[in-house]
Amino acid sequence: MLQEKERVHMNNSQGAVLWFTGLSGAGKTTTAAAVERQLRERGRRVELLDGDELRAGICKGLGFSMEDRFENVTRIAYVANLLARNGVDVLVSAISPYRAMRDYARERIPSFVEIYVDCPLHVCEQRDVKGLYAKARAGEIGRFTGISDPYEAPQDPQLTLNTASVPLEENVRTVLAYLDRKHRFQ
Ligand code: PPS
Ligand code: MG
Repeated sequence: MLQEKERVHMNNSQGAVLWFTGLSGAGKTTTAAAVERQLRERGRRVELLDGDELRAGICKGLGFSMEDRFENVTRIAYVANLLARNGVDVLVSAISPYRAMRDYARERIPSFVEIYVDCPLHVCEQRDVKGLYAKARAGEIGRFTGISDPYEAPQDPQLTLNTASVPLEENVRTVLAYLDRKHRFQ
């Protein structure tokens, strides 16, 4: 029997909210953007809400204290829910490091799908695409997730995508297959 959290998003008029959580540099934005392209090609209406981007927009002025991260996620969840209830599929890529904040989003969004973008810290640090890990290690950035601030990995996500050992295309296929199975055709 399907669990409540799986059953709720079988209503086709509601868009799915695919919530990608994971460390900085784990591949949240890259994976979400690739899924976004595929969904658009399938004729879906899609929006990508990226933490990094929104922090220059509706989340401007928020920092990385626990309170500000909660506020950030609260705003993202609010917009995601507005879009989803109007039939738009929403891809959220935000570290959203605390379980409580993801629970908050899940409670408010009927079609919430938690996707753990799983990549070991040392791999994220090796990648260091934005040079932020080096700065965090040097003490130039405080409260950096995984270094000087917590990341609480999901305990029971709908999907876990390993980006260290699994190619992007395969992870994208996994997400699309999940949507087909649980969201669209039941
Ligand atoms: S959160 O925790 O959900 O509110 O964070 P989010 O909105 O996703 O923003 C994360 C991006 O901000 C950059 N950045 C930091 N991340 C974590 N900790 C600290 N201290 C920090 N300072 C800046 C970084 O580019 C994150 O983007 P991603 O895409 O995760 O690498
Ligand atoms: Mg990103």
